[in-house]
Amino acid sequence: MTKKLFIKTYGCQMNVYDSERMAGALAPHGYAATDRIEDADLVVLNTCHIREKAAEKVYSELGRVRLLRDQRRASGDDLTIAVAGCVAQAEGEAMLERAPFIDVVVGPQAYHRLPEMLARRGRTARGVVDTDFPLESKFDELPAALTPVGPSAFLTVQEGCDKFCTFCVVPYTRGAEASRPAAAILAEARQLLAQGVCEITLLGQNVNAYRGEGPDGRSWSLGRLIRALAELDGLARIRYTTSHPRDMEDELITAHRDVPQLMPFLHLPVQSGSDALLQAMNRKHGADDYLRLVDRLRAAKPDLALSSDFIVGFPGETDEDFQATLRLVEQVHYAQAFSFKYSPRPGTPASLMKKQVREAIKAERLAALQELLEAQRRSFDQQSIGTVMEVLIERDGRDVGHKAARSPWLQIVHLAGENLRVGDLCRVEITGANPRSLSARLLPSPTVQRGRAA
Ligand code: 5AD
Ligand code: SF4
Repeated sequence: MTKKLFIKTYGCQMNVYDSERMAGALAPHGYAATDRIEDADLVVLNTCHIREKAAEKVYSELGRVRLLRDQRRASGDDLTIAVAGCVAQAEGEAMLERAPFIDVVVGPQAYHRLPEMLARRGRTARGVVDTDFPLESKFDELPAALTPVGPSAFLTVQEGCDKFCTFCVVPYTRGAEASRPAAAILAEARQLLAQGVCEITLLGQNVNAYRGEGPDGRSWSLGRLIRALAELDGLARIRYTTSHPRDMEDELITAHRDVPQLMPFLHLPVQSGSDALLQAMNRKHGADDYLRLVDRLRAAKPDLALSSDFIVGFPGETDEDFQATLRLVEQVHYAQAFSFKYSPRPGTPASLMKKQVREAIKAERLAALQELLEAQRRSFDQQSIGTVMEVLIERDGRDVGHKAARSPWLQIVHLAGENLRVGDLCRVEITGANPRSLSARLLPSPTVQRGRAA
């Protein structure tokens, strides 16, 4: 008898990848995925702890799931509730105290134990918790994800972080940096390609710190791994995220120059443009180091577009510090970026720092920064008008015969094309920029269709 599994995913792309792997691990135990929570026998919330808002959302969702379970029980049915991800890791047992109706609390390193935990829950009076960092690797134990839904897939190559930025929970929730062996990554990539994927995004909390064992017994860098992946038949596009400026090694920069499949887009968070704050954040580089790195990257790959994360209102941030951030943004010119108000996280050094910034000032600075970043994003889109590029068809558009595609620079591109299919790569000319996307017309040059050249 099949049971229905509903997974709700919060936070980063790593969680999206993990959710797929959990579904893969539960499938042999009779669970089939559903996208209707009302039908579920098992609900998994895959949570994020990065900011307070993200973590609190989990508890409000848990309240709703509990009501659903009450209804189920009233009609003689049941519902199992599991919490996974970084809130599970950070809070562990404490989650059961706050929400005793939870059945399973499982940390990101223990997902391969999920089926066994669910079985154990049937024999215990209260919820089961596992937030260990086991010796065995979950990657060796977890079966592959189920068939990917589109032409684009994530592949985790590295997990954890040793950088200890003073604001960040990741070193605590995801543990120390660990890289998967290159052979395992290449095998997973081949399997994705066989399933029709043509774009792979390599994931890691600190992906460019990748140091995995190569098939030659040597330690491979991310640049080396990308070169090996580029030799796989059918892999048209390679991306990677998220990178730390300190780990941007020559071999990776030259991969941007030499590997045509490596997309000209780099998410390279800088967080702040003030040297004093970068130091207080323990980022291990200054604003000038970052700007010089951007110059080197653009020298290697002139059409490289950049994206970043920013934090405003970090403890001690003065107006001058904030102005330095705006100046850095002006110098780099980002294609897109994410920006957040500083959110004190339990257990991190910054949460204990004096001189916390007032909420009103954080809000003011965030608005000013977002206005500048938004203007840069629009100007980047405007500059695309009239250019010719190859886009990847990702899904059907809203209008009949229309498709939504993705540019090399991650822009959404709308175009008309009756005969195009999801997974096709085609050449287009950009004809206009809308608030959140581009419009394009299909050029008559050859379209590469999934699995065969046309
Ligand atoms: N408060 C606000 N933003 C944070 N980030 C990480 N920790 C915090 C925090 N405590 C942001 C950083 C990081 C992104 C994933 O989230 O900008 O790059
Ligand atoms: Fe959130 Fe970080 Fe965990 Fe991803 S790794 S889910 S961003 S806390």
